[in-house]
Amino acid sequence: EKDSAKISMAVIRRLPKYHRYLKDLLDRNITRISSKELSKVIGFTASQIRQDLNNFGGFGQQGYGYNVDALYDEIGKILGLDKTYSTIVIGAGNLGQAIANYTNFEKSGFVPKAMFDMNPKLVGLKIRDIEIHDIDTVEKFIQEHNIDIGIICTPGPQAQSVADRLIKGRIKGIWNFAPIDLTVPDEIVVENVHLSESLFTLSFLLRHNQL
Ligand code: NAI
Repeated sequence: EKDSAKISMAVIRRLPKYHRYLKDLLDRNITRISSKELSKVIGFTASQIRQDLNNFGGFGQQGYGYNVDALYDEIGKILGLDKTYSTIVIGAGNLGQAIANYTNFEKSGFVPKAMFDMNPKLVGLKIRDIEIHDIDTVEKFIQEHNIDIGIICTPGPQAQSVADRLIKGRIKGIWNFAPIDLTVPDEIVVENVHLSESLFTLSFLLRHNQL
């Protein structure tokens, strides 16, 4: 864990992809793999892979390759996937409900404890077994249930005030789907998912494909 603090953000951004491919290899009963073979499936160069995985030490051996199981576990640990997290969703509209309905996050240890909305018509309803609470109770809920992660699914103009409430409740991290950049204190980590940025990148690629 001490060492993982030194790993660059560029490497961290690639780890989920390694994790996903290693899981796939394990599912296919492949227990070891060379950087060259891994390069073929994952698309990074073999030297990039060796460089990335050197950060964790001891898994690659000349002439043997990587032990898939050990590497999968180690990357999982570095990503913190050996722990469980309590989450809440704020904004129980289309996107919030879709996220609450998605059971795969739970399988990875991200356990949804509640949803919050300002619309009284939604308060009291349940998505699966996840109840929608009044937003005015969110600070208290975070503290009482020791919530780690707030998932913001409100419209953009409301997202900053929602973030402020989460911070007041002492949330640790925010997964932000609203199309704005949040202002938060240093100790709060934010990861943005700006779907339209990805869509506009696709638009660019389409356009340049046709030129
Ligand atoms: P929606 O209008 O269906 O849901 C938003 C919900 O937030 C509503 O239920 C509303 O009552 C609630 N809300 C508003 N202000 C609030 C506050 N201060 N506290 C608590 N709840 C509050 O909108 P939708 O489609 O779910 O989108 C939500 C956010 O996700 C938006 O920022 C949108 O730009 C973003 N987004 C949505 C996508 C989608 O596929 N629906 C895709 C990409 C981004």
